[in-house]
Amino acid sequence: MFLKGDKLKEVFLKAKKERFGIIASNVVFDSAIRSMVQAYATKNSDGLLQMSSGACKYAAGQTQDIKKGAEMISAMVKVISSQYSNSGIGLHIDHATPNYLDFIVYCIEGGLVSSVMIDASHESFEENIRISKEVVTIAHKNNVIVEGEIGYIKGTEDEIVSDTELYTKPEEALEYVKKTGVDLFAASVGTNHGVTKGSKVVLRLDLIKQIDDLLIANGVETGIVLHGASGLTDFQQETAVKNGVVKINKDTQYQMDIAEAVQKFWEHERNAIVRPEGMSEDDYIPDKKRFDPRKWLGKGEIAMQKSCESLIDVVGSANKSIFMK
Ligand code: G3H
Ligand code: CA
Repeated sequence: MFLKGDKLKEVFLKAKKERFGIIASNVVFDSAIRSMVQAYATKNSDGLLQMSSGACKYAAGQTQDIKKGAEMISAMVKVISSQYSNSGIGLHIDHATPNYLDFIVYCIEGGLVSSVMIDASHESFEENIRISKEVVTIAHKNNVIVEGEIGYIKGTEDEIVSDTELYTKPEEALEYVKKTGVDLFAASVGTNHGVTKGSKVVLRLDLIKQIDDLLIANGVETGIVLHGASGLTDFQQETAVKNGVVKINKDTQYQMDIAEAVQKFWEHERNAIVRPEGMSEDDYIPDKKRFDPRKWLGKGEIAMQKSCESLIDVVGSANKSIFMK
């Protein structure tokens, strides 16, 4: 079922208390939404789907109308998740920079989302606090929760590009969380947006613990978010969760899953739509049973679902839905 902000907050509080993680899966189109919702439901897990500004523009089609795109994704998430009562599904706006303020407010006030990320991390620290606080005020009034960030996460995430990576300073994290009242805090600890080999990154899992301990000691315990988590090893993710992470963002992983599955399909089934060399045009009959998009896209959907199910197992949210009796 679709979660409003207060229920999503309950999901993260439970995750934090029991030290498991919630997978936040980036989606654009119905295939991905279906795959992820089915994965969460199969595992009796709560979960988050997230849409970037670019995803919303794409979803709208050639008009690139970001608000229409968000309405469309939100409607799909609500309808698909309404079929499952053993799993709560939230919808989140990923990395909305201050120039998308109007868009965020539209989604919040229109009840399209459960949570939003205001990413003003490229502004000065003071300005980041001011803007984040403004979003928190509007969001909380409308039963939506908020994720904020300081520092940079290296790599490319849709429209967000950064060559730098700045490790979060725990004292700054404390000041930011205290002054803004964000519900979730994205820490920069060495992950990269995009294709990553976990064994090659300089991951400061100790920093997650330092930030978490400091927030707890100051009475502002907050769910920590790990961005750029595709490619990390199971051990890295398990440790991150143990150290205070509750939201683990995944995008690239699913893009690779669907591409790989579809590529594999067409490698074997090429002659369903391409005439084999040496055969005459007259003799060749394309095979509708195999080129029907449901056949090959379906392979991609299965791959994404399986991948999400495995991630749920790694972060320990299986059978932990707040709706499980
Ligand atoms: O917010 C989205 C994630 O941080 C995506 O990271 O592409 O490495 O999975 P990823
Ligand atoms: Ca990554």
